[in-house]
Amino acid sequence: MTTAHKRRRVIAGNWKMYKNLGETRDFFDAFLPLVRDVRDRDVVVIPPFTAISAAVERAAGSAVAIGAQDVYWGKNGALTGEICAGMLADAGCRYVLVGHSERRQFFHETDDTVARKALAVLSEGLTPIVCVGETLENRDAGLEKEVLRRQFSGGPGSLTADEFSRILMAYEPIWAIGTGRTATPEIAAAAHEFIRACAAEQYTAGHALALRVLYGGSVKPDNIQGLMAQDELDGALVGGASLDAKSFASIVNYT
Ligand code: PGA
Repeated sequence: MTTAHKRRRVIAGNWKMYKNLGETRDFFDAFLPLVRDVRDRDVVVIPPFTAISAAVERAAGSAVAIGAQDVYWGKNGALTGEICAGMLADAGCRYVLVGHSERRQFFHETDDTVARKALAVLSEGLTPIVCVGETLENRDAGLEKEVLRRQFSGGPGSLTADEFSRILMAYEPIWAIGTGRTATPEIAAAAHEFIRACAAEQYTAGHALALRVLYGGSVKPDNIQGLMAQDELDGALVGGASLDAKSFASIVNYT
């Protein structure tokens, strides 16, 4: 597809379970001056819950938005340990990751909870970044499309057309996360195209064209260029390389 220029790109950094308050403040002090001139793409930093307020405070007045890594789908309630979307909005988040593969793998997240979480995030006016991706076993067995289709239709594909038009998606092949083994730009582009085809099938061609799909999995300063050369890739979801201000800035500033 050749209409990617109409889709604004997003570079998001997922810190996972790293950084305390001091490290968060230090990161922003180093990072913000390096990305001051970025205008044509969205930049998001996604710290752990405890560092969200510090990140929001530090990023205030800059173009960098803050996100959360997970959410519970209900409103307030007797649910020890959970955090709802209203709390995240109140803390200053604008994005929430939903269905990251580590949540699916280690915390039993299902397509159904992904759908509920995405809806809860939207209902607070925030943007869910809904993650999908196959395992190495899936891919070796030639099942990647089947898995992506299932994750799509059970998760974001259960939203209404209007709700769907307000989400972002991320394609993160599990075999590429934290392994140093990036999908080639061509493999990633083919998966993105397939996700877009699922969106066209479920909704309309217009929804598919407008959908922004980020690529995630070992994105680094030295491979961002090649990945972003693909029109199908509408940005990146960066894990390890987003922890260092200089490295994340050089990914954000790709040309
Ligand atoms: P990685 O993580 O960049 O460290 O591979 C990506 C992610 O899990 O979002």
